[in-house]
Amino acid sequence: MSTLENRAAPEHVAIIMDGNGRWASARGLPRSFGHRKGVEAVRETVKAAAEAGIRYLTLFAFSSENWRRPESEINDLFGLLKTFIRRDLAELHRENVRIRIIGDRANLRDDIRSLLLEAEETTRGNSAMTLVIAFNYGARDEIARAAARLAAEVAEGRLKASDIDARMIDERLDTSDIPDPDLIIRTSGEERLSNFLLWQAAYSELMFVPELWPDFSREVFFAALERFGARDRRFGGLSAKAVALGS
Ligand code: IPE
Ligand code: IPE
Ligand code: MG
Repeated sequence: MSTLENRAAPEHVAIIMDGNGRWASARGLPRSFGHRKGVEAVRETVKAAAEAGIRYLTLFAFSSENWRRPESEINDLFGLLKTFIRRDLAELHRENVRIRIIGDRANLRDDIRSLLLEAEETTRGNSAMTLVIAFNYGARDEIARAAARLAAEVAEGRLKASDIDARMIDERLDTSDIPDPDLIIRTSGEERLSNFLLWQAAYSELMFVPELWPDFSREVFFAALERFGARDRRFGGLSAKAVALGS
């Protein structure tokens, strides 16, 4: 079993869980089997993240563009979210995990909306780790909703348009109470963000791993964290090494 060295864990890891369909197709199974197997990978990943001392784990579960899929697949994905929350909420609560949902809830069905609210309300006071589920989430949609809020505040005279800065936009995003991700991992070998956390990813380290999401494991996760630990993040400044050398 791999263990982590005494390197500081990233505070926030966000994962684009991709490759469920390909995992199933490779086995001659319907795509829904891949999604079901993907939920097991979610459980293992949440446990591993808590073990690694990660404070925020964000999982991209359904994008605002996933509505383009066949209705039966959309129903499968919504069904899995419902079962996951119903089955795992009690255990996550016991493990002191706080649940936060990001994405647009306005056009979700009432039963889903109240389930998401229940998960957030039940776990509101928990402090071991925050599990952020991005559901019906799209970064452009999120930024547009923030812009609409700002525009409304300007129209009401509560804000001057010329005073708007990056912080004010940040405060109106779904993630206003969540730090930016330090590391974004995408599985399945695809190398794109697919409209995930575009604003928040400004200085995130990106990592693309070949494993399909159902094959993602504690080992693969910890190997990614090791690689993250070796990266030199500069945020536009100079690396600590360069400063020490006085260059
Ligand atoms: C990720 O797996 C799950 C969601 C996007 C909801 P996919 O369903 O995208 O699987 P592939 O990419 O088709 O293999
Ligand atoms: C991104 O995966 C969305 C989620 C993981 C929920 P997709 O499979 O939808 O992304 P594309 O379409 O390949 O870019
Ligand atoms: Mg995909």
